[in-house]
Amino acid sequence: MAQKDVGNKIPIYKLKTTDEVMKYYDEWGDEDKYNKDMVDWNYTGPKETVEILNKYQKNKDILIFDAGCGTGLVGIELKKYGFENFHGADLSQKLLDTIPKNLYQKLEKVDLNKKIQSDESFYDAVMCVGTFTFGHVKPNALDEFVRITKPGGLICFTINEGIYEEYGFDKKIEYLKDDKWEEVEFFKSDYIASKDVNAWLGLYKVK
Ligand SMILES: C[S@@+](CC[C@H](N)C(=O)[O-])C[C@H]1O[C@@H](n2cnc3c(N)ncnc32)[C@H](O)[C@@H]1O
Repeated sequence: MAQKDVGNKIPIYKLKTTDEVMKYYDEWGDEDKYNKDMVDWNYTGPKETVEILNKYQKNKDILIFDAGCGTGLVGIELKKYGFENFHGADLSQKLLDTIPKNLYQKLEKVDLNKKIQSDESFYDAVMCVGTFTFGHVKPNALDEFVRITKPGGLICFTINEGIYEEYGFDKKIEYLKDDKWEEVEFFKSDYIASKDVNAWLGLYKVK
């Protein structure tokens, strides 16, 4: 798979360590640059994923974990659809600081490559949009998402097409199908079509 990037200052596929990723996003948050770029690039990840969640989840009172929430673009979409209860977690404090006040009920700086500080079966749904990409969060985070989601709950995520096989997301998704979750939706989404960068979009139901 060709390594595509989104024309940012450093090509995103060159990011290797968690420290590099954190610095990259801390800088990108300056002067609202991340949000402005997402508008310019017509980034559709948050809209597409929340639309799919909404298709299968009509109860607006559920508690949702937004993993890698960045500047809160997923939270803004969740609110548009009437969801009210969501927590956000991200590696970049700089991006977390840009999130509109009172949008999320709780925000935390976390490294999602480590164990998530949440009880098991705590959330009704997990959203993870734009965060499975080069040098970011690895497939083992999916085990954690399953652990913290209630039986019958939904896990909805995007995976940049460039790392899907290279990082072993294909194998992890299949493995979880054995007894942890069942597939509801899995298709190639637009994501950042304006930059010719696409992502797989999956929605899975925890058993
Ligand atoms: C492309 S942005 C997506 C942000 C947001 N979900 C959106 O759709 O706009 C990727 C996000 O992943 C976060 N991230 C990268 N590595 C992470 C890690 N190890 N743990 C937690 N968040 C991470 C970044 O800080 C950044 O906010």
